[in-house]
Amino acid sequence: MLSAAGASPNRPGYFCTVLSFASNESPLEFLFEKEGVQLWVKRDDLLHPEISGNKWRKLKYHYEAFRRGGFRQMLTFGGAFSNHLAALAALGKETGTPAYGLVRGEEVKDNATLAFCRSCGMEIESLSRKRYALKDDPDFLAELKQWLPEVYLIPEGGKGLAGAQGCREIAAELPSDTDFLALPAGTGTTAAGLLAAQPSYPLLVFPALKGARFLRRAIVEQALALQEKPLPGPEKLRFFLDYHGGGYGKAPPDLIAFMNRFYREYELKLDPVYTGKMFFGLVELINQGYFPRGSKVVALHTGGLQGIAGMNAHLASKKQNTLIYEA
Ligand SMILES: Cc1ncc(COP(=O)(O)O)c(C=O)c1O
Repeated sequence: MLSAAGASPNRPGYFCTVLSFASNESPLEFLFEKEGVQLWVKRDDLLHPEISGNKWRKLKYHYEAFRRGGFRQMLTFGGAFSNHLAALAALGKETGTPAYGLVRGEEVKDNATLAFCRSCGMEIESLSRKRYALKDDPDFLAELKQWLPEVYLIPEGGKGLAGAQGCREIAAELPSDTDFLALPAGTGTTAAGLLAAQPSYPLLVFPALKGARFLRRAIVEQALALQEKPLPGPEKLRFFLDYHGGGYGKAPPDLIAFMNRFYREYELKLDPVYTGKMFFGLVELINQGYFPRGSKVVALHTGGLQGIAGMNAHLASKKQNTLIYEA
């Protein structure tokens, strides 16, 4: 268990003391140059082996709020393959904090993600889909808080102001000559944090879900909650809505084939739910000449590799091609 000895909630740098097991900054790697366009990767997946990518960014300030509030346990919500659930379980283990996961679905089958969560000591309970749908409902949350006063509640996916606050910090680590930043999106919290950082470059957002037009508003609202200054104009937030691969959690054969080719060529592991779809879209945009020659495009690797084992098992059960690598 890590000790927070000497850390004071009022002292700047408090958080770094507590979470000293994760890197403070992720590396930036050059991938390739094509048609005069350079593609770089911001390797947030390397921040921590288990609390990786935007999960670490999002949990950082939630964990700080947990400690400052004197709570005893952390509780969150997630699907049975959730990266966030796995990251919270790992954070619980790393810091010696009891963690609970409320998982969507009447029958929570055992899979690699949930087995990992349990191995970290997380207690898992399943909620019916109907009850799970109340995860953001203020009455339901107030009820939960009343039953469990010592529990710090973290919203699904680590969203919320604290989550966006951690993601905002990515901006300060990007090179000053970045022309475009590409990132995948689910709740839009990561994009909101980056938008609140007032980027000089456009954010290219690749939603992992179908019909994600609602995300623009969600991102702008979250960014405004974090940053009261006027946000950059709408041209700084560009959406690519056609790279969801059939919907959230779907991994069609062309996506898997692309990811395997990408891995063979660049030795970069992508996850099939978020980053695989973003890179698929990004490479297509480069080939279509979307970017002016001389552009420096940075793609944010948001992690999520823990989900590969579960996806491979699912694809194998359907006799479909699998990814040639695991996390
Ligand atoms: C690996 C990974 N990438 C991207 C996202 C999407 O991030 P956001 O929900 O902040 O849009 C998630 C989900 O939170 C994720 O697990």
